[in-house]
Amino acid sequence: MKEFCTAKEAKQWLKSYQKKKPKIGFVPTMGALHVGHLRLISQSKAENDITVCSVFVNPIQFNNPDDLTKYPRNLSLDARLLRNNGCDMLFCPSVEEMYPNGKHENIELEFGLLDKVMEGKFRPGHFKGVLIVVKKLFDIIRPDNAYFGKKDYQQLMVIKHMKESLGLPVNIIACETVREDDGLAMSSRNLRLTIGERQVARRIFEVLCKVREKGTKTPVWELREWAIKKIQEDSRFRVEYFEIADRETLMPVESWGHRNQVVALTAVFLGDVRLIDNVELFS
Ligand code: PAF
Repeated sequence: MKEFCTAKEAKQWLKSYQKKKPKIGFVPTMGALHVGHLRLISQSKAENDITVCSVFVNPIQFNNPDDLTKYPRNLSLDARLLRNNGCDMLFCPSVEEMYPNGKHENIELEFGLLDKVMEGKFRPGHFKGVLIVVKKLFDIIRPDNAYFGKKDYQQLMVIKHMKESLGLPVNIIACETVREDDGLAMSSRNLRLTIGERQVARRIFEVLCKVREKGTKTPVWELREWAIKKIQEDSRFRVEYFEIADRETLMPVESWGHRNQVVALTAVFLGDVRLIDNVELFS
């Protein structure tokens, strides 16, 4: 596996393959890789000639400086995992490489409510930072296919919207959330849970599954309230939001008229670790 820290080197290496017109698959990450990321790598390998993974903890998408400082980092372990899983290139730029002198391009697009509800509301500036880095990474790697997990459902929708609005020549591939045996969605942030917190963290997915089960038998507002209460029955959990929303626009729904196209999404603090998860309803 090739490892590059500068855009110039990464582009040069990709250019040397240009004549063969390889299909390039791209998995952007912030490192602390887990099985969920490795699934994206293996899907990319199955569908492309070259698979590139980026590891970059993007400071401009963190609205909370403490979250940025505590974000788990282990580049040498990430590199080993990628090598063992057949990734062809690791791109791991520094902050200065991505944002020389702290400067970056802005992306001004109209997203309607898509980037303003839920994560957009509670993490102001977050999606702007995500879009800036994803666009910049796409410009460097020029992938045919880019792979994103559905765990970050709203991020996936916002990126799809950017691709459509800017007419970017890349397919955005949505991949199913990978879960631990007890149902907890895999996330780099899980590493920050204490042993006790980790033991109870499955509650989030359990409640989401119950919501899916109860479905249209209960009015939307009642189901939301029930879910919040159920998660918070254990006082270590604090729900930031729990919404049932249209799968495409992410507009919260008030009734079950949408039936085939809704998703239940939540962000929950367990201790001081913020976890997000979702399940699609009625698929
Ligand atoms: O989902 C992530 O890990 C990040 O938000 C991404 C897409 C790599 C951008 O920094």
